[in-house]
Amino acid sequence: MKIIGTGSALPDKQVSNEDLTKLVDTSDEWIRERTGIGSRHISTGETAASLAAEACKRALENAGREAVQVELLLVATCSPEMALPCTACQVQELTGAENAVAFDLNAACAGFLFALNTAYAYLSAGIYRNALIAGTEVLSKIVDWTDRGTCILFGDGAGAVMVEQCGSGGVLGFVQHSDGRRGNVLACGSRPLENPYHGERDFMRYVQMDGREVFAFAVRQVPASIEEALEKAGLEVEDVDLFVLHQANRRIIEGIARRLKADISRFPMNLDRVGNMSSAAIPVLLDELNRQGRLIPGMTLALSGFGAGLTYGACILQW
Ligand code: UT7
Repeated sequence: MKIIGTGSALPDKQVSNEDLTKLVDTSDEWIRERTGIGSRHISTGETAASLAAEACKRALENAGREAVQVELLLVATCSPEMALPCTACQVQELTGAENAVAFDLNAACAGFLFALNTAYAYLSAGIYRNALIAGTEVLSKIVDWTDRGTCILFGDGAGAVMVEQCGSGGVLGFVQHSDGRRGNVLACGSRPLENPYHGERDFMRYVQMDGREVFAFAVRQVPASIEEALEKAGLEVEDVDLFVLHQANRRIIEGIARRLKADISRFPMNLDRVGNMSSAAIPVLLDELNRQGRLIPGMTLALSGFGAGLTYGACILQW
């Protein structure tokens, strides 16, 4: 399976660190130093579906394919506008991908990676010949804008890729892991129980996170999963041209690079401009790299996502 096109879409409104100092007790210096983030895009009405649809249209255009040709449409999101219908069906309507089967997948910040691997399984089995895969988030609606520990981190946006079966190259190896025992480290409620029979119970309306725990988990598990995926692909760290990682925090990425003994120049980043966009982070970065002409045919990429669940994994692919 090969990626043949990429696209992305970000809300119009940009919010700088300086803007956030008007909401919470923080500073541009603290946010930049601890996270590497300078600004992020925040929805003023764009939804997970509208952003994903825009990203998908751009990925189709980039791939030179028509929406009616799409056979599988997967959307990874943990911040859908609607519980029903799923975001993928909304995107199907907005893009005109009328022949696709469409459904959502939620694995938080590893969502896009898991969706890519899911598409790979379908395409390898010969069930579908192509797939349009989007990661899309409007995290600004599940973040507590009075909590300086979390509201400074996240941004809204969507990225998408078009993939097709191919004879050689493409996906060379992947791994995925989940550790549900550690779900409390990064969590958010969906909707409260409001039926006439329920008793009093707590409801977690906004994202709650133990930042240090997530940090330690990422720096430990991501390099291990990249090495595991590389072993499956029969490759070494030195064979990887670019590490396209989930954009959570500059210091996390630097820690991962150190553990892999790989130069930081092989770890492209855009989190300074877009923040942490959860499942949208990897496809948005891929699209930027693609449009900058930095992805050359034959290059080896290591993609890795990690986040709530806990979920994490890696995919090695030849561009
Ligand atoms: O996709 C995965 C999503 N999650 C993540 O990526 C989170 C990973 N973790 C992190 O990125 C970091 O843990 C954070 C950036 C969230 C926090 O950085 P830290 O270096 O772990 O800081 P800390 O939580 O240990 O807090 C240090 C201090 C505390 O003050 P005291 O107790 O030392 O007085 C915090 O209250 O920094 C304070 N603090 C802030 N100060 C200014 C926390 N948030 C802020 C803030 N501005 N926004």
